[in-house]
Amino acid sequence: MKTLLTGGAGYIGSHTAVAMVDAGHDVAVVDNFANSSAEAIARVEKITGKKVALYEADVADKERMMEILKTEMPDCIIHFAGLKAVGESVAMPVEYYRNNIDTTLTLLECMRELGLTNIVFSSSATVYGEDNVPPFTEDAPKGMCTNPYGWTKWMQEQMLTDAAKASKAECDRLKATGKEAGANEWKAPLSVVLLRYFNPVGAHESGLIGEDPQGIPNNLMPYISQVAVGRRDHLTVFGDDYDTPDGTCRRDYIHVMDLAEGHVKAAEYAVENKGTEVINLGTGSPYSVLEMVEAFGRACGHAVAYEIGARRAGDVQDSWADAEKAKAVLGWQASRGIDEICRDAWNWQSHNPQGYKK
Ligand code: NAD
Ligand code: UD1
Repeated sequence: MKTLLTGGAGYIGSHTAVAMVDAGHDVAVVDNFANSSAEAIARVEKITGKKVALYEADVADKERMMEILKTEMPDCIIHFAGLKAVGESVAMPVEYYRNNIDTTLTLLECMRELGLTNIVFSSSATVYGEDNVPPFTEDAPKGMCTNPYGWTKWMQEQMLTDAAKASKAECDRLKATGKEAGANEWKAPLSVVLLRYFNPVGAHESGLIGEDPQGIPNNLMPYISQVAVGRRDHLTVFGDDYDTPDGTCRRDYIHVMDLAEGHVKAAEYAVENKGTEVINLGTGSPYSVLEMVEAFGRACGHAVAYEIGARRAGDVQDSWADAEKAKAVLGWQASRGIDEICRDAWNWQSHNPQGYKK
């Protein structure tokens, strides 16, 4: 199968590129390096021993995307490209809506014109909002998001779902009337898989690729890693007065290679099926902030310094997946636990203390 990964030089995209090549599929990557570098793809090639076609382009640039897609004509597009920092999205909503929504609309227009039909989308557990009680099942109502980033995911899910529905209706109508599809009509029904990720963490076991946040990390695991390697003094734990066994929030941390392998199954599924499927990619097992700090200390061989601070605005107390649908529909489940997560995150961080720069 030929796959095209938008945002494929990023954290999850680069790991998915490895998993795709390992599964015997061809990979092309489109990235504008807004939050990544070409070095990640050079390392993907080193790990796999295979060439990855790399295009530097903005996915919202329709002319350029038409050229690239005409060259590649992928069986499946995996759409990772997007801006993802929650706090930044509150400060820069216009940039977030412009980038995240435009990239998806551009892809849909190109796909319609070229008769490409299969797309897997990077959504987030953030769409469950604050009112659902975990474990979250895919049929739970989408909730109110607490920030513009979350709303972009919410909206992109809706846009893709509506496009899939319209493509089916249009194809049924054309079939009934015996007419040919015009330039702006769907040539075949769309197949959309909306993957709701829980908390992707860890790194490829080679230590060659991993998460490389710019500036001060917003997320827990890169922050812990940077404290462990001496780049930062201590972690601030955001609140220990939650209604949980140790008072800290619980999350469903999933090894990024498990997540990557989930994308291989999702892309294969998208090619075989039509319509829209929403699928959680999580482990189904929650861990608290303090449990993660302890596990990392075991992996790196010394305690990770932390202090307890105030709650962070917008945090939900508990979030974890019901992971049954992925098992039933994709035949996939996460197989790596928190000790492997911390081992691989430490391997990446300790060998690349400044990320891809050194
Ligand atoms: P990332 O920032 O490492 O990767 C995103 C990539 O998209 C980057 O390489 C960036 O340069 C590229 N990009 C952004 N806008 C682009 C554009 N207009 N054109 C071309 N390239 C563009 O992030 P990630 O953690 O790998 O996340 C991948 C996707 O998964 C994102 O859509 C993100 O919102 C989603 N997601 C991530 C998480 C997480 O915790 N990492 C959780 C849920 C969902
Ligand atoms: C956050 C985003 C979510 C996004 C996800 C991507 C918020 C409110 N939510 O989720 O929309 O999809 O990242 O991975 O930002 N923590 C600390 N100290 C830190 C950092 C984090 O105690 O320095 C705690 C948090 O309070 C939380 C847990 O660690 O309880 C995990 O935090 P994080 O890694 O930021 O992920 P989420 O909050 O789940």
